[in-house]
Amino acid sequence: MTIDMARKIGNIKRTEMGKGVKLKDIEAGLFVPQDYFARIGSAAIFPCNAPFEVDLGCGDGAFLLAMAKQFPERNFLGVERLLGRVRKVARDITRAGLTNAKVLRLESKYTVEWLLEKSSIDRLHLLCPDPWPKGRHHSRRLVQQEFLQALWDALKPGGEFLFKTDHEEYFQWVCREVSEFEKFTQLPWSDGDFFYPKTDFQLLWESQGKILQSLRCLKDV
Ligand SMILES: C[S@@+](CC[C@H](N)C(=O)[O-])C[C@H]1O[C@@H](n2cnc3c(N)ncnc32)[C@H](O)[C@@H]1O
Repeated sequence: MTIDMARKIGNIKRTEMGKGVKLKDIEAGLFVPQDYFARIGSAAIFPCNAPFEVDLGCGDGAFLLAMAKQFPERNFLGVERLLGRVRKVARDITRAGLTNAKVLRLESKYTVEWLLEKSSIDRLHLLCPDPWPKGRHHSRRLVQQEFLQALWDALKPGGEFLFKTDHEEYFQWVCREVSEFEKFTQLPWSDGDFFYPKTDFQLLWESQGKILQSLRCLKDV
């Protein structure tokens, strides 16, 4: 084991994983940047160079794992801020023996704006994000002009932004923000167009009779 590896593992143990979690159960599925202030590309995260997809706010990771299993020739990074969810996703990836999926514990906007290399992402998924429904909380919504510019910079030419929500008013908000941003081309997207598993929250909302709306945006080549 290299010194860097030992330092990295010690760091995970002390600051991120908490008591009672065995490192061997989560280590392979977790990505911990050595430097949170230096940009990184997928080559620094995964063993194989491959198309790179990011799932922002990946929650319990069902979508991330299903995608990674379905597409072993692509790499998938889940981003999640809640420790318990990160632990679960890291453990599930490790148990499944997937080398093309990792989870990162970090804030979504920071990850896109400051951590990931520019022009590095093939597809970015933002699925059932918190809609922050109260007017006084709208400023907390992720999809705003600054985020869209960071996303545009982080996507490769030909890259895509895929968004789903059950929240009608947030959907209209995102459509307005994207249209004001002007640079993306909207693509049609219906269920069954391509493999796209339902997320945990999508299943929950649908079980309550809610309907999800989808938006698919292309960064033109
Ligand atoms: C409503 S859940 C949706 C989870 C998953 N995408 C799904 O559809 O099942 C939103 C997730 O995003 C995470 N999240 C919210 N804001 C975040 C942020 N700023 N950075 C990272 N994760 C965030 C939450 O902790 C939560 O797990």
